[in-house]
Amino acid sequence: MSHTRWYDPILEHPVARGVAGSLAAAGAAGLLMTATPAEAQDLVTPYGAGGVLIGYQWGAEDNAGNGLLWGVEGRGGVMLADQFGGPAMAANAVGRFSFVNLDPQLHFGGQIGGGFGMVFGVFDVTLGHRWGPHGGFSMPLGFELQVHAASTFVRLDPLLWQGAVGGGVSWMPREMLVGFAVPGRPLHAEEGHAALPAVTRLDEERPPDDVDPELAAVLATEWAHRAQGEWASVPAFLQLADQLARVAAPASLVRRAREAAADEARHAIATARASMVYGGAPLTLGAVSPHTRRPAEGLDALRRLAAESWVDGCLGEGKAAAAVARESQLAPHAAQRAMQLTIARDEARHAELAWDVLAWTVAAGGDDVRHAVDALRDASPSERTSGLDGGLDLRSHGLLSEPEHAGLASALRERAASRLAAVLG
Ligand SMILES: [Fe+2]
Ligand SMILES: [Fe+2]
Repeated sequence: MSHTRWYDPILEHPVARGVAGSLAAAGAAGLLMTATPAEAQDLVTPYGAGGVLIGYQWGAEDNAGNGLLWGVEGRGGVMLADQFGGPAMAANAVGRFSFVNLDPQLHFGGQIGGGFGMVFGVFDVTLGHRWGPHGGFSMPLGFELQVHAASTFVRLDPLLWQGAVGGGVSWMPREMLVGFAVPGRPLHAEEGHAALPAVTRLDEERPPDDVDPELAAVLATEWAHRAQGEWASVPAFLQLADQLARVAAPASLVRRAREAAADEARHAIATARASMVYGGAPLTLGAVSPHTRRPAEGLDALRRLAAESWVDGCLGEGKAAAAVARESQLAPHAAQRAMQLTIARDEARHAELAWDVLAWTVAAGGDDVRHAVDALRDASPSERTSGLDGGLDLRSHGLLSEPEHAGLASALRERAASRLAAVLG
């Protein structure tokens, strides 16, 4: 019997064929860009992940090919973002080996999409083959919603006239997470953290002669990211000084917060210079403002000051001080060692300021403040993973690996926890 299948118009339609082709090309482009140290390297973060999936596949007329869908998949590609925390685009290649009941199927293709933070929506097209009843060449087209490590998908295959729904979990290899940036004190907005200031290189990148160009590009990017964080810390400390003054905190705390803002401005310049050493051209840092949220009043202000002092200062800057001090021992040049030692000492002083602000808010606000901080005992300061290439010799250029950062963070937390217990009384 001859009949027009519902998907024929899709296959015959040039626009639809174009869309399918473009999605497949996205996978190839993702792989290609991963291997290329792009000029706009600071916009591009390579990533890779592997995972498992489970779902249900249906559509065969006699039900012989219906059943439980299960298998494994791997992804590799790049993420493009103008700033951390801003919207991002992702393009990657994907490979999937799965079964429907016990009949295998193998697919390769691409995904392209976009998202915010850890939430991504991606279109997915793959080509492959399915063995067993109602098998043959297949081309599932789908959409996948990824939230952190979990995903859910729906796919329709116009060649085999089958559909599938399901979900999965994926893991990113730890090596992909090498290179935690040392954060400055984060700048808060009404909700969460304010976007980081823009950073722009003023001229074409020219790596130094004595450093491998790929490594130089990564180092230039890493230092530029640090400059962004440090620069955002300037308004963060001005915001802190203003908030302290509004709740009539001791003048010495207000003064020390203003001095910390000046320290952070020096850190921003020093780290931007380090980026210039590897990138060969200076950076500009975009405008920042301390007016990213309204100051709080009364007890609310004390609770907020206490909570942020604990998380951003005692833990965040305390950890940054330890990490930068360690990095200063690895730094290849005397100038870099001196710069990192200065930053380490400053960060340690900022952490001490946070402990003093915390102690004052507890004394001024009593149990309300105690409970607010106690609830955040296990909170973690924000850290950014840069997705630096674990295969590069970053350590000999003064950057710690992710496990080293994690080790320093847990040692610091242990010390901070007992000190917090003493402060809370
Ligand atoms: Fe800093
Ligand atoms: Fe700091």
